[in-house]
Amino acid sequence: MDSFLIKGGVPLRGTVEISGSKNAALPILAATLLTDEPCVIRRVPDLSDTRFMVKILESLGATAKFENGTVTVHAKKIKGYADYDLVRKMRGSICIAGPLLGRLKKARISLPGGCIIGARPINLHLKGFQALGCKIKIEGGYIDATAKKITGNSMFLGGRAGPTVLGTANIMMAAALGDGITVIESAACEPEVVDVANFLNAMGAKISGVGSPTITIEGVKKLHGAEHEVIPDRIEAATFLIAAGATNGEITVKGARAEHLRAVIDKLGEAGVSVERNGADLIARRKGKLKPVDITTLPYSGFPTDVQAQMMALLVLAKGISIITERIFESRFMHVSELARLGADIEIEGPSAIVKGGKPLSGAPVMASDLRASAALVIAGMAAKGTTQVNRIYHLDRGYEKMDEKLKKLGARIQRVEEK
Ligand code: EPZ
Repeated sequence: MDSFLIKGGVPLRGTVEISGSKNAALPILAATLLTDEPCVIRRVPDLSDTRFMVKILESLGATAKFENGTVTVHAKKIKGYADYDLVRKMRGSICIAGPLLGRLKKARISLPGGCIIGARPINLHLKGFQALGCKIKIEGGYIDATAKKITGNSMFLGGRAGPTVLGTANIMMAAALGDGITVIESAACEPEVVDVANFLNAMGAKISGVGSPTITIEGVKKLHGAEHEVIPDRIEAATFLIAAGATNGEITVKGARAEHLRAVIDKLGEAGVSVERNGADLIARRKGKLKPVDITTLPYSGFPTDVQAQMMALLVLAKGISIITERIFESRFMHVSELARLGADIEIEGPSAIVKGGKPLSGAPVMASDLRASAALVIAGMAAKGTTQVNRIYHLDRGYEKMDEKLKKLGARIQRVEEK
């Protein structure tokens, strides 16, 4: 398994181009199953997750080509049965269920299972499918969903931690080809959900209200092929803005959308990292000393849970007490023990991490546990004195395109160590 070797203490300086959003690309690639015509999706980040999704589409019978960030998919004829192992390995693949139900009125996919950050239930997805007239059977690790027809309906999709991002996308995709009107209350407002709806509307769907908690879908008979460019990855952009603050450098982030980053830019400002707009570019640099701040992760447009770990890596450098409360997932603090190996002083109290910041970090071998935790460890390693080896970097490769190359261009002393 590959690892990153990082020599810390270098302020990052320069410009970085943000890739397309992983969390928009995955459901948008799944949505290409809704039509028998070819679709062209541009600015797809080249990640293990997106390559996996293309493999899943091919296992369903679609033809697909992934070249220079553009994926061409032609799901002329498809089957409703996805390869058990393929789906089981990537939670995000649950979002093929909606398109399969919309197109074929049936879907047989393995239960996605949980992951290190939480149980990751899909009860809200199933609740929505049932509201659309689907019969759901769960046996032998599979979800078997069938419907005589998809009938529009109103439903409330709020759960234990508020809306569901992929659940909202799944219902939109199933209802797009349904009979009648579907109204989703407590829909997710994330920009990635808006991007999926924009692609569906480009295919001829009739979806309105996206970006608000109430989405209306008027079913249509057929969807046609379309072209679409994926929105920039706001989580990747946030990661680089934070890295500028953590290394006391100055980074110009190109290709991001400031309007998707309001909560992050606000909190960074409070913490002493200014993010200024220069046209479409964002320039991040420290403004004086880092200050402790309190953060609670919330559904969009609140502070994103996917930036929680990276923010913690910054706040361990800010002298004083920062309280970080994770309200979306039940165990998203795997990075705490690894940050402690670098000298961080953090205590977990239920859903909160109490960060006693300001102690100097010194490099050590650490273990990545999940996608965003690995990004936090890379940030901390770049701020630490000495050398940090971040092991199991495959977690990071799932969601960050060419992270080491982008960091190297900014002056980071980082190299990928391939395990023989
Ligand atoms: C998406 O996951 C993202 N993944 C996650 O990003 C992100 O953290 C999450 O949304 C929240 O913003 C992709 O888009 C591929 P949810 P998703 O359904 O849709 C509970 C990353 O690092 N819930 O919005 O699976 C759930 O347990 C990844 O890029 C139910 O209770 O998340 C969680 O507590 C990690 N029942 C909360 O809702 C359900 O049926 C939010 O989950 C579904 C979810």
